This record gives sequence, structure tokens and C-alpha cells, in this order.
Amino acid sequence: MKLTFLGHAAFLVEGSISIVIDPFLTGNPVAKVKAEEIKADLVLVSHGHGDHLGDSVEIAKQSGGTLVSVHELAVYAGRQGAQTHALHIGGSNTFGGVKIKLTPAWHGSGFGDGPMEYMGTPCGFLIWLDGKIIYHSGDTGLFGDMELIGSSQPIDLALLPIGDNYTMGPEDALKAVQMLKPKLVVPMHYNTWPLIEQNPEQFKKNVEAATDSKVSVLAPGESLEF
Ligand code: NI
Ligand code: MN
Repeated sequence: MKLTFLGHAAFLVEGSISIVIDPFLTGNPVAKVKAEEIKADLVLVSHGHGDHLGDSVEIAKQSGGTLVSVHELAVYAGRQGAQTHALHIGGSNTFGGVKIKLTPAWHGSGFGDGPMEYMGTPCGFLIWLDGKIIYHSGDTGLFGDMELIGSSQPIDLALLPIGDNYTMGPEDALKAVQMLKPKLVVPMHYNTWPLIEQNPEQFKKNVEAATDSKVSVLAPGESLEF
């Protein structure tokens, strides 16, 4: 199975089906891929902030894929013409043999900079694809229930923010890894803008010294097989 980092919090996972998560490409200063080039069967959107909702509606429409999010965001995306499926925190469903479950995230979720549209609660995602389990935490601060997420299923790959300011920084992300116990971690949500500048190689050193998890630092546009 192939994971491609699209920059910021956006990833493309290609296995028996293609899944894109938080595809913010248009206006993303580090993105190497254009929204028009992405085809996905499932488009997962963690919350309504522009750097996550991004191009998700357009990608769902051009792919004929299904946008999966919390109910409130799904209603918004449906109004824009996307095919949607609403889940909510703790709920799961199976799409073409792939199970998706929503996890909690401590963050906000309004859209727009004028009067804000309410987009429900932010979330993270657990993805059961081709025998592997992937966790994308969404934008969140550290929370103790990551222990429960880590002990309830063996996580193969965790996608975790390290940027600080809006989300966990590297020190809290290390604590998240200690609770989640994933085989592999890919850091995200850093170095898109100066405000969330971090050194991912230092994060890798610290995590690999303190835990049994491995860290792969991906540049935007880079892929790994797992
Ligand atoms: Ni956000
Ligand atoms: Mn964000």
C-alpha cells in the first residue's frame, strides 16, 4: 500500500481503493500536486477549516467519490454538489470493504472568515484498509483517550501533527506516540507557514529514542510503501 504526503495534513492512500485525507492543495504553499490530478474513491475531511476542507468537494465531484465527514460538514459538502456519507464520533461504516471510524479531536470547526458556518465537531479517522490500520488524528491537542485508541487496535501508521500553535507540538506528539504505540509515524501540519515551523528530524530522533515506533519524515509529494 502506498502513502503519499500531499503537504500540510493532506495524504493520499492507495491500496485496493484510493483515499485522500484533508486535501488542501489550492493555496497550499508547499503542495506539489494539483487538485485536478487527484482521483479518490473516498475523501475524508477532518473539520471545516480551509486548510483541511480545501479542495475536498471538487475532488469528490471529479472522482465520483464519496466525501466522508461528520454530519454538519457532510450537509455543507452535499449542498456544494458532492456525494457524501455522514458519520459521527465513535461511529464507523464500511465502504467497499474499507472500514472508517471517526475519533475525537480537540479543535474548532467553523468555515469562512465572515459569519462562520458551523461545521460540527472536528474529528480524526481510523482506517482499516487491506489488513492495515491507519490513524489520522486530524487537528488536535494531546488527549488521554489516545491511550484507548492505541490499546483498542494495533495501529500500523499514525499521521500526527507536530506544528504547535494550532495543534500538538513535537513534545505532545511524542506523548501521543507513547499512547498510540503505532509501528510507524509520519508527522504532519508543520512547515507550511512560518508560524508552525518545526524540525521533523529532531522529532524523529526523540521518538525513536523514547519508543519502539519508527518515524518517516516525508517531503510534500514524497511517498512510502508500508
Ligand atoms: Ni484546523
Ligand atoms: Mn489545520
